[in-house]
Amino acid sequence: MKQYIIEGGKSLNGVVTISGAKNAAVAILPATLLVNGTCRIENVPDISDVRLLLEILDDMGAVIRRLSPNTLEIDCTHVRDSEASDALVRRIRASYYLIGAQLGRFGHAKVALPGGCNFGARPIDQHIKGFETIGAEVTLHNGFVCAVAPESGLTGGRVNLDVVSVGATMNIMIGAVLATGTTIIENAAKEPHIVDLANFLNAMGAKVSGAGTDIIKIRGVKSLRGGFYSIIPDQIEAGTYMAAVAAAGGNVLIQNVIPKHMDCISAKLREMGVKITEYDDAIRVQRTGVLRRANVKTLPYPGFPTDMQPQIAVCMALASGVSVITESIYDTRFGYCAELNRMGAAIKVDTKIAVITGVEKMHGCTVHACDLRAGAAMVIAGLAAEGRTVIEEIEYIERGYENLIGKLEGIGASIKRIETPRGRRVPAVG
Ligand code: EPU
Repeated sequence: MKQYIIEGGKSLNGVVTISGAKNAAVAILPATLLVNGTCRIENVPDISDVRLLLEILDDMGAVIRRLSPNTLEIDCTHVRDSEASDALVRRIRASYYLIGAQLGRFGHAKVALPGGCNFGARPIDQHIKGFETIGAEVTLHNGFVCAVAPESGLTGGRVNLDVVSVGATMNIMIGAVLATGTTIIENAAKEPHIVDLANFLNAMGAKVSGAGTDIIKIRGVKSLRGGFYSIIPDQIEAGTYMAAVAAAGGNVLIQNVIPKHMDCISAKLREMGVKITEYDDAIRVQRTGVLRRANVKTLPYPGFPTDMQPQIAVCMALASGVSVITESIYDTRFGYCAELNRMGAAIKVDTKIAVITGVEKMHGCTVHACDLRAGAAMVIAGLAAEGRTVIEEIEYIERGYENLIGKLEGIGASIKRIETPRGRRVPAVG
């Protein structure tokens, strides 16, 4: 059993450096399948989701070289095996990008339906709608998505997404890059990682424009060639450290961030009484006084990200007054509130709304990470709480946070990772 043990109640001080964006990396890595030549990619986060995708690509015959902990060379020129191992694919949600990548590269794709964090139904009907628009025939059979291009190849088309979907927007971009003609995605998602994928594809010779707006145009090209790319910093990792300083108190310089990407999170924390100072590629977060209540509604970018909802909930749990969170992206993403309540928070959940009455203190106990960001919230709660917090099921957290222990220790937290034989628990206080 792997656990984090946190001795809470210490303020955070110092400097922390943010890694490359997970949700950009997990799309860019499958997209290397489309490239003839070597892609040299910098700022790749060393997290378990990325390691899994590299294993999948390696299994398919990609040549992968790690030049440094965060710089990779990936050459998929000689990949012949068009299918990915379904045992690996089912372990990661982002494996759905293999559908677009295989379809674009081989003209057919067969990919096991994706796994990932469980917060309600997570359909991929909009991805399928996009692939069908560019001419593919898509079927679902025995837990697999099968997509086949017509003999004449994929052709451009116009797809209007029924819901703003990050995954569908990126998957259609990947699938359409090598199609004949122009594909237009309307009602596209605008997250920073969408722009990053477009920039990566363009660096390899694609012609994608409009990424970051709600209309993206992909002019098909005959082939992509190798090149160099550096992944943007992770907006949500940066936001998580910001929330950690807000909850635990202290003064931390968060470097390797794009402050513009953090606008919505910075604005909310300022509203709650946190001092935020922006620099070119860094943000200083200072919290010495009491946190004030606030309301949050999660929205697609540039709105408040659903992936920051659990972390801001911890800040609200420690703020004065009553705060309200409305989740509007997923059917359910409040499973972690019961765990926070066990630590002394006062949160009432009604489907998509959480009403949070601030308490003065939370106390450590044994909790579990129910998904990646819920796990991040448990870490923040543990840092802010009095006493010892033991977090179980940390595998979720390690899917998306590089060197969490080292980074938190570097800013004064007392946190360690232990592995014990299954069944033996570390005693927790509270
Ligand atoms: N949706 C559909 N049909 C689709 C696709 C999405 O109805 O075909 C719905 C979803 O059910 C959801 C909404 O549209 O209600 C938005 O889903 P989206 O497709 O944007 O989410 P995703 O691509 O599955 C990515 C991130 C998530 C992040 C969301 C929203 C990756 C691998 N995952 O998921 O990241 O929450 O966008 O920003 O990029 C995380 O990092 O912790 C995480 C869960």
